Formats: sequence, structure tokens, C-alpha cells
Amino acid sequence: MKFFLDTANIDEIKKANEFGIIDGVTTNPSLVAKENISFHDRLREITSIIPGSVSAEVIALDTEGMVKEGRELAKIAPNITVKIPMTPDGMKAVSILSKEQIKTNVTLIFNANQALVAARAGATYVSPFIGRLDDIGHSGASVIGEIADIFSIHGLDTKIIAASIRHPQHITEAALNGAHIATLPYKVLVQLFKHPLTDWGIEAFLRDWEAREKGDS
Ligand code: E4P
Repeated sequence: MKFFLDTANIDEIKKANEFGIIDGVTTNPSLVAKENISFHDRLREITSIIPGSVSAEVIALDTEGMVKEGRELAKIAPNITVKIPMTPDGMKAVSILSKEQIKTNVTLIFNANQALVAARAGATYVSPFIGRLDDIGHSGASVIGEIADIFSIHGLDTKIIAASIRHPQHITEAALNGAHIATLPYKVLVQLFKHPLTDWGIEAFLRDWEAREKGDS
């Protein structure tokens, strides 16, 4: 399973990129709104740092508007993926854009049928929101598993991006249930490295080493 970073913040993207494990970035209107920047300028900046897929979401809700915005976004850089919400108009837009070889990420997916429809429309990626499902007492992990099984049974190439990640356990669940990618906030990315026993182990090794040096002198 690959990692994408779920942010529009350039400092987080630069810091995360230094780990060498980030294959793409996802943004959404809420994340962009936090930044107080020009959307297109920020996308130019992000795509110059990250060579992999960078998802940029359309704002229009009608097919014509989504296709127009999608074409404009795709001109920014070859690695832009146009993010489109899971609606009937959105699926018409995905169908049109995918025939033009423009990559699409269908967002706000909450069940396996929505993912199947998006894949049939030609989506490059589908983004099931596992955190928001868990928030309402459903199992985001089960939905990922169902989508992965259906895509495998029916030979669909669309990639699953586990989205709406809230904590490290979501990453384990997404990986075990067959997500191809997880898009995660910077805060969760750095949590993945941590375990109290790792910290304790380093302290103990250093303590023993220092005691040995004192013994030698
Ligand atoms: C990414 O593609 C999604 O827009 C994002 O993960 C949603 O996360 P949230 O549910 O924390 O807003």
C-alpha cells in the first residue's frame, strides 16, 4: 500500500517528502480553504515537489462545469488528478474526462456500489472515507474490503485510496483490507513511526552504552 499526503500545506508536503515514502498528495476544498492561497498557484507548487498524483477537486456540481474545471486543472501539470464527487453528474464528468486521458479521483465514496459505479465510469481512483464512516458507527475497513474484493473479482483497474484517515489504526485496517493507497494527514504520518517501546529501547541502549564508556575510563 502506498502513502499519499492529505493536505494543501506546503511545509507539511516538504517535510513529509523528506521521508521518501510519499507517492502523491490529495487536497479538497476544506484543506485548500485553510491555506489562504491561490488554488492554482498552490497546485503548481505541489506538483513541482511531488512527481506522483496530486488530486485537485472541482467545485462545480453540474457535468458541464466539472468538465470545464477538470480540463483547466489538468492543464496545470501532467500529474494532476481531477477529484470529482460521487454524484450522477460527477459520473458523467468522469466518463468524459477519462476518455480524454485525464486522471480522476471519485471522492465522497461511502459504499461498495458507489465505488463500482465510479470504476465503471472510468475513474482512476476511488476514495472511500473510512473515518467519516466510523464516525457514524459503520465500519470503514469493511467497505474498503468489499471494494477491494469486487475490483479483484471483476478485474477492475481503478485504485482504492483509503481517505478520511484519523489515526494509525486506520492505516493498518486499510492495508489489511486491500486499499492500494492511504491518504493521510501529516499528523498521522508521523504517528506511524512512533511506539513507546522504540523510544524506551533507544534510551536503554544509550544508557547502557554510556555506562560501558564510564566503566572503560
Ligand atoms: C481526501 O481525499 C479526503 O478529502 C479527506 O481524506 C477527507 O478527510 P476528513 O474526513 O478528515 O475531512
